[in-house]
Amino acid sequence: MSKLWGGRFAGKTDEIVEILGESVSYDARLAPWDIRASIAHARMLGDAGIVSKQDARKIVRGLESIAKSIAAGTFTWSVSLEDVHTNIESELVLRIGDAGKRLHTGRSRNDQIATDVRLWMRDQVDAIRSLLLGLQAALVAFAEAHIGVILPGFTHMQHAQPVLLAHHALAYYEMFGRDRERFGQLRARVNVLPLGSAALAGTPHPIRREQVARELGFDGLSANSMDAVADRDHLIEFCAAASIAMMHLSRLCEELVLWSSQEFGFIEIGDAFTTGSSIMPQKKNPDVAELVRGKTGRVYGSLTALLTLMKGLPLTYNRDLQEDKEPLFDASDTLQLCLTAMARMIPAIHVDARRMAEASREGFMEATDLADALARAGMPFREAHGVIGRLVLHCANTGKHLTDLSIEELRAFSPLFDKSVRSALGPAAIVRTRDLPGGTAPRRVVAALRRAKASLAKEQS
Ligand code: ARG
Repeated sequence: MSKLWGGRFAGKTDEIVEILGESVSYDARLAPWDIRASIAHARMLGDAGIVSKQDARKIVRGLESIAKSIAAGTFTWSVSLEDVHTNIESELVLRIGDAGKRLHTGRSRNDQIATDVRLWMRDQVDAIRSLLLGLQAALVAFAEAHIGVILPGFTHMQHAQPVLLAHHALAYYEMFGRDRERFGQLRARVNVLPLGSAALAGTPHPIRREQVARELGFDGLSANSMDAVADRDHLIEFCAAASIAMMHLSRLCEELVLWSSQEFGFIEIGDAFTTGSSIMPQKKNPDVAELVRGKTGRVYGSLTALLTLMKGLPLTYNRDLQEDKEPLFDASDTLQLCLTAMARMIPAIHVDARRMAEASREGFMEATDLADALARAGMPFREAHGVIGRLVLHCANTGKHLTDLSIEELRAFSPLFDKSVRSALGPAAIVRTRDLPGGTAPRRVVAALRRAKASLAKEQS
């Protein structure tokens, strides 16, 4: 098969150069977007009188038939034709003859690949945003199903203060909401048409960039042809947003792994999302959570690869840029796979509310509230902190819970303790007192759930 750029060459390309230089093995997936962009370009060439109307129509029909063959899996990709663009263009010439040779008028593969990736990315961003929404919905349903459940909240992995399980789940709802917003902001920067920049300087042909932008649904035109063919900021941003989302997933996964351990016993993950051991018959392993946690690393790897690829690259297009696709595709595929798996696994989590309640009585989590009680009775908080510290030490030494102490025992540490203090010490009572915006009091969490559901319903409609 002859190379589209073969004219200037007398000798043959070394086999290793073809192997090193081909990208069709991974960029063939861009074909649907490449063809859409080519169709818009061809229509514009016909409308602007750059090619005849008849040729433009032939090109569009030829491209449509190629799209069908590709979708049907009957298209033969050739590695010696290098990339997705040259494979499709060569086939076009085979199918429609000379008219096909006019398609590349006024454009270059440099602005073509830049356009394809933006079109592809726009669709991936939309898919990721809807997967994030699905995950948020799963978290809301989980929170709602366990609205009365209390568990220890941790700082430093030490029991800190009791919280509602629903409050804990909604913390992740917030994280994935920010991820959705981040991808949405990225979409606006992605949705700009580079086509028309040609190789780097623009083209002398009287092309109509606005028409192509309109047909492809872009909100605007790139302002500088050199920037447009050399810019890969959006790929880096995409991988950065994907990395942050994966980081959120990995934190959730880490908690699920811990919580399903015998030591915690807070949850059991259903059979459909756990696996056994080939040697230890008793095992039920949280592999999905571990794999998602593990896959976070490869998405960070994509981000690092792209940042490193771009560093110090002179303007404008350099062939190095071909190396941008595999990390990008891998980051997108990995994130979408992980979001899908997690949204499906969350409904399969069985909560042991009794075990969580038991744990909530351990670790002296009433200590802050006792100090607050003394502070309310007039003692400076710092002083109250010291009194309760001694009280905790006393309990630790005598093997008691703070709630075991009688009012007399408490008063031995400070006469300011009021009789009512003991009734305010259970996990449920403590949770109820965090009654402020953003707090874990049940009525606040119920309101947060209501807001979350309303916002999900709005986004899904
Ligand atoms: N396959 C190339 C890439 O992904 C397309 C652009 C090729 N441009 C060129 N001048 N060789 O970057």
